[in-house]
Amino acid sequence: MDMTVSRVDPGFEKDVMRCFQEQSYAIPARWLYDRQGSELFEQITELPEYYPTRTETSLLERYSAEVGEMSGTDRAVVEFGSGSSTKTPHLLSATHPAAYVPIDISGEFLAASAAQLQTQFPELPIYPLEADFMRRINLPSEVANMPKLGFFPGSTIGNMIARTSVDLLRFMRETLGTGSQLLIGFDRIKDTDTLVAAYDDSAGVTAQFSLNLLHRINREMAGTIPVDQFRHIAIWNDLYARIEIYLEVQADVHFTIGDNQFDIDKGQKVHIENSHKYGLRDARLMLRAGGWSPVREWSDERDYFSLILAEAHPFKNAP
Ligand code: TRP
Repeated sequence: MDMTVSRVDPGFEKDVMRCFQEQSYAIPARWLYDRQGSELFEQITELPEYYPTRTETSLLERYSAEVGEMSGTDRAVVEFGSGSSTKTPHLLSATHPAAYVPIDISGEFLAASAAQLQTQFPELPIYPLEADFMRRINLPSEVANMPKLGFFPGSTIGNMIARTSVDLLRFMRETLGTGSQLLIGFDRIKDTDTLVAAYDDSAGVTAQFSLNLLHRINREMAGTIPVDQFRHIAIWNDLYARIEIYLEVQADVHFTIGDNQFDIDKGQKVHIENSHKYGLRDARLMLRAGGWSPVREWSDERDYFSLILAEAHPFKNAP
């Protein structure tokens, strides 16, 4: 029997209480990724309907050498939100960087995946950094004088609203410095059926992943949420060019979380994720708004996904 008492993260508790007590009916997506959630997400990346991971991975396999030609071989690769760093080896073998700095908010994950990569690249200096990449970061002094290549795969930028993405791009520019480059993945706008299926697969793995958030509340906060009364839904919002994920309650429900009682009416939706999609020009504009000039881009035959290499040119006075 597992005797470890999982202590609830105060930030999680605050966000859950705001959702139900203040009736905002939204929970930040970062809480989807506890141990179970991370495992389910790994399964999502292998689903036939979930094209982003395999499309981006094959772009990296195919074009990392070209990235290397554009970047030179002496840069420090800095990965934002490295997680398990599964896409990184392609880039590292092709660009022969001087150092690798994986940044992640979860220290455990970081140490394990850095150790794993070190066996694959025994000569490469690796400096893992536990940090929140949503603000400016001080990089390890060892890489201070190296030119940088930022790496931000997975179209993770799409999980932020536009204002937040631009903030993030500006922070990245401050972190990496003028003259640095950024290789970033953007998931593209495509037909609605393909998009919706990627977020609502026929095997129901994505639904399990979403509903795990409610299970997590029950596990960590002694909740009695009747999870089977909630349904995962994914809808395409064309005005905002994004997939929106909700948990919709199928009947009037009553439950407790600790000492707090809640009633939610049938039909209420709890918003748990946005995944923005981009036209090529949208992606370029987003980068420029954040201070990055696009220099080269690569897409698959179907234009399902794009990798863009951008550069932090010195700011000049606009005419
Ligand atoms: N970053 C992933 C994406 O937007 C996250 C994700 C995939 C996701 N499927 C999901 C988030 C389902 C919530 C629910 O593609």
